Amino acid sequence: MIVTITLNPLIDRTLFVVRLRKGVISRTDRKEMVAGGKGVNVARVLKNFGLPAKAFVMLGGHTGKLFADLVRLEGIGLIPFWVNSPTRFSTRIHETSRELNTTLIEEGEPITRDEIERLRGKAIGSIQKAKILVLSGSAPGANLSTIYRDLIREAHNNKTLTILDTYGEAFLRGIEASPFMIKPNRAEYESSTGKPLRTAADFRAAFRHFHDKGIELVVITLGKQGVRASFKGETFVLKPRRIKEVMPVGSGDCLIAGIVYGLTQNLPTEDCLRWGTAAGCANAAVWPVADLKKEQVEQYLPLISVRKKHEG
Ligand SMILES: Nc1ncnc2c1ncn2[C@@H]1O[C@H](COP(=O)(O)OP(=O)(O)OP(=O)(O)O)[C@@H](O)[C@H]1O
Ligand SMILES: [Mg+2]
Repeated sequence: MIVTITLNPLIDRTLFVVRLRKGVISRTDRKEMVAGGKGVNVARVLKNFGLPAKAFVMLGGHTGKLFADLVRLEGIGLIPFWVNSPTRFSTRIHETSRELNTTLIEEGEPITRDEIERLRGKAIGSIQKAKILVLSGSAPGANLSTIYRDLIREAHNNKTLTILDTYGEAFLRGIEASPFMIKPNRAEYESSTGKPLRTAADFRAAFRHFHDKGIELVVITLGKQGVRASFKGETFVLKPRRIKEVMPVGSGDCLIAGIVYGLTQNLPTEDCLRWGTAAGCANAAVWPVADLKKEQVEQYLPLISVRKKHEG
């Protein structure tokens, strides 16, 4: 079983209009609504790949109930954790005349101290049987900045493989527990550590920094420029084929799903990374966010170039 954790989910609505005009009423031609949030994205792709995955999601209010319905309708395994503050919306306006997206994301509301205590208990109970645990996205409110760290420690007691994909304080505290894998993108790395990530020396320093903290697999994602990763004395540079980018949101989540797929199949690290890079690329090439079929990813596998180097 693979368990993903999402503490800051959102209902992702897209309204399609020909052209948005400010200050007047526009009418939509079409609308879409999906359960969003990083861990849910990872669980969706894993489910599509035929792997047993469950999404632990913090939900609240009427919007939380709507979220749970959407997840269940998709057939994604859900472990809801109920709180008072309502689940938020993200509203994207897609202008069809110029293929332009404008997105408004509501802030997540902090939860109470009591809820945090209940959350810890429920989350710890829910990860007991996980072989792989994916902790994704931001944790709403300062009081939650240590929760990933604590869950990673708990998971390691059960020999669960852990993957941390977050930023800021939750990332800095989370890496104190030495997750198996981290996946910052460039902006997340730079904002969390205050260090630049441009030159080959910057990448070497970043890899060394995280390995010294006991993190085995360090994966840095760079959008259309691909992936740089480091594992057990080897570094990898993966480059996707150039594609027409349609909607890159969720590519990082798809990359994680691809790597998790590789891990469950006991593929060598290089191939796990190839699956991840191909999944990120396949996602960016289509409109739906993080809803890939396995065949879509397989198409891209041969189009990824991989350079591997032993570090001295
Ligand atoms: N336009 C693109 N063309 C080819 N590959 C892409 C493109 N965008 C993303 N990818 C692939 O997906 C991977 C993850 O993308 P990215 O670095 O944007 O993740 P992210 O910022 O974490 O995204 P998100 O948090 O929205 O899921 C990249 O490393 C790359 O391999
Ligand atoms: Mg990301």
